[in-house]
Amino acid sequence: MSQATLRILSPDEAGLSEAVGILQQGGLVSFPTETVYGLGADARNDRAVAGIFAAKGRPSFNPLIVHVADLETAAKYVDFNDTAERLAANFWPGPLTLVLPLRTDEGISKLVTAGLDSLAVRVPDHSLAQGLLRRFAGPVAAPSANPSGRVSPTSAAHVIAGLGNEIDAVVDGGDCRVGLESTIVSCIGAPALLRAGGIPAERIEDCLGALLRLPDDPQTPMAPGQLASHYAPAGSVRLNANAAQDGEFLLGFGPVEADLNLSPSGDLTEAAARLFACLHALDKVGATAIAVSPIPHHGLGRAINDRLRRAAAPRG
Ligand code: TXA
Ligand code: MG
Repeated sequence: MSQATLRILSPDEAGLSEAVGILQQGGLVSFPTETVYGLGADARNDRAVAGIFAAKGRPSFNPLIVHVADLETAAKYVDFNDTAERLAANFWPGPLTLVLPLRTDEGISKLVTAGLDSLAVRVPDHSLAQGLLRRFAGPVAAPSANPSGRVSPTSAAHVIAGLGNEIDAVVDGGDCRVGLESTIVSCIGAPALLRAGGIPAERIEDCLGALLRLPDDPQTPMAPGQLASHYAPAGSVRLNANAAQDGEFLLGFGPVEADLNLSPSGDLTEAAARLFACLHALDKVGATAIAVSPIPHHGLGRAINDRLRRAAAPRG
């Protein structure tokens, strides 16, 4: 599809049916989920999926997550085992992505999996995402709707600022509730945490009654897209800062004097929801150097620290 003019679609019946029409024609539609805005395309359509990689400037070895409306639909595309069924029963719909063996007979484009024999699937907990998936009645491949390597979008305005010229439409559903991407767990072999995210790893371990293998465990399969530099704002990022140095903006956490504060009361859920919006806001004011307060490393703090570490990493 041509990307002549961006359509900004309303969060209602009319907007969703237009979005579905664009997906059916192989177009690219950004839509809100509870985590971040996704950039969706029909996961069975090679050209549409290729369009996602082109729009984002995403390396083609980095596979995409397939979004479906429910567990039953997910089971068409991957083989579930007991661990995966238990996690899906507990956390779907919600910010958990499961990596499972791909069923090769169901027509998922090889570009989605980057040629792997596994597939990442998730069932989002957002009424507009659900409305879109039910109406489309097919698998939607959707990475976060940002240029590759940059900060993920938590509002339609972020999507438009980053990809407005590259995509066909965005469904404007306001701010995302969770604000961090889904937690990714591989259920192939011993369950392994591939990416910290919107559901704290501790909650998943409680549900399984077992510890997850961690991303730095050599036995853990790599999530191919976990690049060292990612989620990067335009300015440099310095972590664990107790105060700003000359020329730095301080992004605070807890009761500190700061230019912007993730959560003055020190609430990790609020900080997660605000993290990407604050980084986008710092881009907008042209911050060239950003210092960030220490964030406790438990619960959602682990996912926040993961994103901040990549935001601070040397750029490629
Ligand atoms: O919350 C989210 O998960 C958002 C929203 C839009 O749903 N999506 C998202 O997608 O964060 P993306 O593309 O930004 O991140 C997908 C991650 C990448 O790190 C990728 O490498 C990993 O999932 N991944 C996808 N398929 C995989 C597979 N078969 N095995 C291992 N990792 C996989
Ligand atoms: Mg992403």
